[in-house]
Amino acid sequence: MYRLFLVIFVNFVFAEESFITSIEYGKMLYENPRGIGCVECHGQAGEGRMIAEYYHKKKAISLQGPAINHLKFEVFAKALQESKKVMPKYYLTKNEIQAIFEYIESKNSTK
Ligand code: HEC
Repeated sequence: MYRLFLVIFVNFVFAEESFITSIEYGKMLYENPRGIGCVECHGQAGEGRMIAEYYHKKKAISLQGPAINHLKFEVFAKALQESKKVMPKYYLTKNEIQAIFEYIESKNSTK
């Protein structure tokens, strides 16, 4: 009886998950991974954007989030797995990285 319940429960969880497509999942992740969205630093479709402008020793410095909409998947995935200077480390799973990548691709193929 207990086992039957478990099977039904597992099916339910996976059925729930299939209500959103992989691209929609990627959009969710892109906009809000762990609270600070990629969108804040890389723009709506990964086209890049200015994060901040500040003065250092009287020189104006602008901090840019680079464009990430033209990268090969391997480069994209590698960048997210290593520590960067400005970008926080997210510890995303392979599936999450894949979904975000596909979402950015989908945003750029419709334009
Ligand atoms: C706080 C701003 C910020 C956030 C949030 C952020 N990034 Fe970045 N990202 C950067 C900056 C700045 C760089 C350039 C490397 C550095 O200086 O950290 C970068 C680099 C990258 C690169 C490598 C680009 C290249 O040409 O090699 C990828 C890919 C990337 N980010 C994807 C993402 C994804 C996906 C997310 C969300 C999970 C994200 N970033 C969230 C600021 C950010």
